[in-house]
Amino acid sequence: MATLYILNGPNLNLLGTREPEVYGKQTLADIEKLARDAAKKYGLEIEFRQTNIEGELVNWLQEARTKAAGVILNAGAYTHTSIAIHDALKATTMPVVEVHLSNPFAREPFRHHSYVSGVATGVICGFGARGYVLAIDALASLLAGAKA
Ligand code: DQA
Repeated sequence: MATLYILNGPNLNLLGTREPEVYGKQTLADIEKLARDAAKKYGLEIEFRQTNIEGELVNWLQEARTKAAGVILNAGAYTHTSIAIHDALKATTMPVVEVHLSNPFAREPFRHHSYVSGVATGVICGFGARGYVLAIDALASLLAGAKA
């Protein structure tokens, strides 16, 4: 069974209590459940992880090169700062969907640049937890070879 890696960066462990007006009330465990249910529909396996450490995300992206059919990445604030994550993504060949709960383009200017977007297959932002499900739909469709 093909596996999707869903990787979450710094402070996303605080979801539910962290700025709920921006990120919503759902916890990361709620999002994991949503993702597992969505993936099951497509017969996909999920590896769901969170870390506050930049290098850990780099290690997981390297691991994903041989273990994952696709990656969903919410790199949190490292999105806007990390050339190491950019380089790790450049070294991958599987489809990658960048996800953000909020819409960074509608927020502070320092969130408008992403080191991830230019090396991702696509970007989903602003739809809250639903963004993870949309990303799974997108990857499942890509992996099934859909033309539209
Ligand atoms: C975020 C957006 C980032 O700008 C922010 O640093 C986060 C969360 C989101 O999911 O909306 O930590 O990635």
